[in-house]
Amino acid sequence: MNKWWKEGVAYQIYVRSFKDTNGDGVGDLKGIIEKLDYLKDLGIDIVYLNPINKSPNDDNGYDISDYYDIMDEFGGMHDFELLIEELHKRGMKIIMDMVINHTSDEHPWFVESRKSKDNPYRDYYIWHPGKNGGPPNNWGSFFGGSAWELDDTTGEYYLHIFSKKMPDLNWRNPKLREEIKDMIRFWMEKGVDGFRFDAINHLEKNFDFPDAEIKNGQIYGDFIKHVQNLPKVHDYIKEIRRDVFNRDYHVLIGETGGISYHNAYIYTGLDRQELDMTFHFDMHSVGRGENDWERKRIDLVKDIKEKMSGWQLRDEGQGWCPLFYSNHDTTRTVSRLGNDSRYHRESATMLATLQLTQKGTPFIYYGDEIGMTNAWDYKLEDYRDVAVFNKYKDFVETGLVSEEDYLKGLHYMSRDNSRTPMQWNDDKNAGFSEAEPWIRVNTNYKTINVESQLKDENSILNYYKKLIQIRKNNKELIYGDFIEINREHDEIYSYIRRMEDSAFLVIVNFFDKNPEFILPGDIKLNDVKLVLSNYECDDADNIKKIKLRPYEARVYRVRLLTC
Ligand code: GLC
Ligand code: CA
Repeated sequence: MNKWWKEGVAYQIYVRSFKDTNGDGVGDLKGIIEKLDYLKDLGIDIVYLNPINKSPNDDNGYDISDYYDIMDEFGGMHDFELLIEELHKRGMKIIMDMVINHTSDEHPWFVESRKSKDNPYRDYYIWHPGKNGGPPNNWGSFFGGSAWELDDTTGEYYLHIFSKKMPDLNWRNPKLREEIKDMIRFWMEKGVDGFRFDAINHLEKNFDFPDAEIKNGQIYGDFIKHVQNLPKVHDYIKEIRRDVFNRDYHVLIGETGGISYHNAYIYTGLDRQELDMTFHFDMHSVGRGENDWERKRIDLVKDIKEKMSGWQLRDEGQGWCPLFYSNHDTTRTVSRLGNDSRYHRESATMLATLQLTQKGTPFIYYGDEIGMTNAWDYKLEDYRDVAVFNKYKDFVETGLVSEEDYLKGLHYMSRDNSRTPMQWNDDKNAGFSEAEPWIRVNTNYKTINVESQLKDENSILNYYKKLIQIRKNNKELIYGDFIEINREHDEIYSYIRRMEDSAFLVIVNFFDKNPEFILPGDIKLNDVKLVLSNYECDDADNIKKIKLRPYEARVYRVRLLTC
């Protein structure tokens, strides 16, 4: 079925890092409003914002202290209403990030909950008396340290699978579920068009709290299977969908670790009545070696094609998929999957070509449209992510990893790589803010920035613009079938998108070598026209055999006779 969220191109904004308008070094909603015309001009239809609710920012908004209000730093409710209005005026939609697996420990529910064992809010969270004078089990938290925190007032432990300032909500409590549903309704009424449910697959835990397996001499157990993708999660999602989203307009997206194209059906299958799409983690650790500080060559067939094509080849009854490489929890696309030095422009545009010509909704992560890179020269003190400092204790302070390797690992793996301020121009602080930014600007902003790329016809930014227009003007690229060719080729990724005999042929060279593309003999086509490439091409109509240049990408319009 045709939907606005299938046809639109989305853009993810990490609000703190996008544009500061009041000179406090923190991005804000007015900053987004200021840049809406830039986004519109780029071809964006949907804006997805990382959390903007009130929060003490232990985890930059993923620790909410008031679900019904907007962070003061971001400009409060008034600016949010203005933003929705300005977006809708331009025919754009807004997706809000909803964090309902946990709250901040400063949320009034938790403030009450920790007061006494019989407080009416006690069961809004997960409390345990502990075992043998210690925590209930050896579960670790995603951000380092134990998943349990002893609370002095009642002498019991509460569960937090993220930081200790982010206690997990108890979804087994029907009262809690009603509160959450009311809260979502509130934002729908404000005009929000869709939601990204954070960490949604963690809503249920194994309440037997068994010890988890210990790996590699680490202190905490591998707890994930006890808190992720458990059957009851589906009951909770179904309930929200049924009770809150009883009309078929909004888009519901879930963040679901441990789920990929072969099993996403359990969340997005049309007959399941749960979510429309899931954000997976398939691209997060591509190219990662045994340890965080080691690299491994990307295997195009296994690491990229199998996964990207895997999502493409599902039938629509299994759900729609988002097309993305990066977000606020990964590193920069061109640094992880391309070559961010010698072939910066070529590899960034090659990756964009794949992202924007496959089937699904593209989510462009802010800054990827100009090829922003990892912060390779960050020192330990430049990092801001709570996980960096917690894990320092678990790995460096215990002697498991040297400080040097840990820092090298951060350069490759830290989420802060993709949270540095948007590079608007080559002025002070990259034009992001008048004041010192909350997180250090990437030093390459003098050469990589929006202003200079807008002026350069051959820039990454202008390539994105052209590509987005091609996608929007051609339904083949949105709803067309996906037919992969030369699947086993380990340097070239190529495929056809078609609707009847009208088709696009996409050919990209994923590395810095010069492989030869050969059109398989059983594919017959004519009316060949090259519509976009990241190189000058003088052999534009000959697609039988092409010697490709490093990271070369080509998009052809063709008439397909047989394949
Ligand atoms: C999700 C978010 C991540 C956050 C975590 C806890 O994984 O994407 O940024 O830290 O949930 O809310
Ligand atoms: Ca600000």
